[in-house]
Amino acid sequence: MKLASFTVVSALALGAQAHFHLLYPAPRGEFVSAKEPDFCGGYPEATANRTAFPLSNGFFRIKQGHPDWAASVLISVKPDAKSFDDFKTSGNDVFLRYWANETQTGNFCVPLDVASMKIPGAVDGANVTIQVVLSGGDGQLYQCADLTLSDKVMLSADVQAACKNETDPTSGHGASSTSTAPGAASTGSSGNNGLGNLEHLPLLSALGAGVLGALVAVVSV
Ligand SMILES: *[C@@H]1O[C@H](CO)[C@@H](O)[C@H](O)[C@H]1NC(C)=O
Ligand SMILES: *[C@@H]1O[C@H](CO)[C@@H](O)[C@H](O)[C@H]1NC(C)=O
Ligand SMILES: *[C@@H]1O[C@H](CO)[C@@H](O)[C@H](O)[C@H]1NC(C)=O
Ligand SMILES: *[C@@H]1O[C@H](CO)[C@@H](O)[C@H](O)[C@H]1NC(C)=O
Repeated sequence: MKLASFTVVSALALGAQAHFHLLYPAPRGEFVSAKEPDFCGGYPEATANRTAFPLSNGFFRIKQGHPDWAASVLISVKPDAKSFDDFKTSGNDVFLRYWANETQTGNFCVPLDVASMKIPGAVDGANVTIQVVLSGGDGQLYQCADLTLSDKVMLSADVQAACKNETDPTSGHGASSTSTAPGAASTGSSGNNGLGNLEHLPLLSALGAGVLGALVAVVSV
């Protein structure tokens, strides 16, 4: 009984943490956590303010809060992609980038070379939409970005400089390096024994699934 309720609570806490943010190129709209399991993260309509995106040597950046994840990217060459079908050809997903798999959380910058995929219609000047698909422990999550492909655009120095991978430290307490997790910092130095932290949902949500599994095992003994 105790185990069951703890498991439910921790699943909820992890669910909130598991959602990812598309940092670049900018998504269709503001991040809405509850809508991320929906098509394009809840934004079915194409936007008019498209990002000029390089045909070659581009990339996308995400912030991912759940370990053991995989990200792929679909593309639609329709100017107004508004359904999963718009990202398919003959019933098959059109991949712009196959799964990039990672065990850690953090910020990641993944190469996205449109030209090399030779997708019909994905040419200089085309209005396209990419849909980043993230599989990270609580089903698939989606974010879309509307782009205008360009063989001339230069990415700004800021955008270039931000393209790096920064993994969060994954061992020990205070594993979350995000300053936005309330409570995580204050409990990090309290010499806790794990079980004493079960009431601290923010900290729980920062723990990896592996650590959590170990805690569940301890509680169930
Ligand atoms: C487009 O405009 C919307 C609404 O202002 C904004 O949320 C979104 O980030 C913008 N997208 C880009 C690529 O600038
Ligand atoms: C691409 O979209 C922009 C913004 O909606 C629009 O102004 C432009 O005409 C479109 N280009 C093409 C080739 O459809
Ligand atoms: C990467 O993740 C995807 C989606 O979960 C999975 O289908 C694929 O087998 C994984 N690839 C590797 C090499 O682990
Ligand atoms: C970041 O990690 C991803 C996923 O493993 C990888 O595909 C990408 O090449 C890495 N990016 C950089 C800039 O090292």
